[in-house]
Amino acid sequence: MPLPALPRLGFVGAGRLARCLAKGFARAGYPVATVTARSPDSAGRLAGSLPLCQAVADAQAVVDSSDLVFLAVPDDSIGTIANNLTFDMRDGRSVALVHCSGAASVEVLASARAHGVSIGGFHPLYLFSGDEADLERISGCSVTIEARDDLAQRLEALARSLGCEILTLAGAQRLLYHGAAHYAASFALAALAEAADVWRTLGFDDDQTLRALLPMLAGTAEAARAKGLPDALAGPVSRGDAVVLERQLAAFEALGGDHATLYALLTRRALSLARSRTRPPASIDAMTEAVEAVLERSLARGASAT
Ligand SMILES: NC(=O)c1ccc[n+]([C@@H]2O[C@H](COP(=O)([O-])OP(=O)(O)OC[C@H]3O[C@@H](n4cnc5c(N)ncnc54)[C@H](OP(=O)(O)O)[C@@H]3O)[C@@H](O)[C@H]2O)c1
Repeated sequence: MPLPALPRLGFVGAGRLARCLAKGFARAGYPVATVTARSPDSAGRLAGSLPLCQAVADAQAVVDSSDLVFLAVPDDSIGTIANNLTFDMRDGRSVALVHCSGAASVEVLASARAHGVSIGGFHPLYLFSGDEADLERISGCSVTIEARDDLAQRLEALARSLGCEILTLAGAQRLLYHGAAHYAASFALAALAEAADVWRTLGFDDDQTLRALLPMLAGTAEAARAKGLPDALAGPVSRGDAVVLERQLAAFEALGGDHATLYALLTRRALSLARSRTRPPASIDAMTEAVEAVLERSLARGASAT
């Protein structure tokens, strides 16, 4: 039997993600029926901020009172919670159970599917702060959905109600999908941390580094949006300044540690972007040779260290 027209939504978890989704869906007109969390206080706070929503004792009470349940809990708890749920499917009742993790397989909900429950994944590509501002900022982001048939349509409608774009995913690709997304999140922070490490050797403190580099990062994101990755490229690689690049690589090698290896690996990626331009820089082969020489030396050092 298809899911009812406007499903009653339930949330297990009242944390950063649940607060934004529950309020966003409620604002879009969806009934959010029940919420639970580890502590009654956080469930009560979220329920109190929503029209006609009740804080309930546990995940089972959410399942018993909702048509579509979001498990918005830490990834490691999703399977345990799902495995302890029971589902009353009498009278043709439909229930759907969805988690919001990017990394966890939808198969962690398989025990529910065995009871006739539709299962799926609803992963917003957004870093939730837990603040009210999330409600505005999530619009324009993407939500990756893994689900079938009616549930897929239902989740797509929910994503659209937040103003989000939709990506669809098959289960086997999930780890690569989630891992690669880190390049736009934690790895951007790791790259800034590397810049701060290097600039510290020049006497700049971390606050100066962030104030100097965050506007550059924002400008880079804007350029990528406006021009695409190859044409947003800046720096010696984009201009074909092979001599500057060689001297920079030597300076990073002189710093020791793995600074030159990281710099050379990222430059290798920048070079492939430059190569994909309609008119790559004339010195692209010379720059590639310089980078590969650093990587070979780094590999040789690694091999001799083992
Ligand atoms: N945060 C993000 O930016 C983000 C982005 C995309 C996807 N996600 C995914 O969203 C999910 C939730 O992440 P989050 O960042 O919102 O986590 P969070 O802020 O740490 O909140 C977790 C919530 O789960 C509740 N909880 C923990 N164990 C529970 C249990 N056994 N039973 C019932 N409730 C329990 C906590 O209760 P208390 O409030 O009482 O502690 C809390 O409300 C994860 O799967 C995560 O991968 C998060």
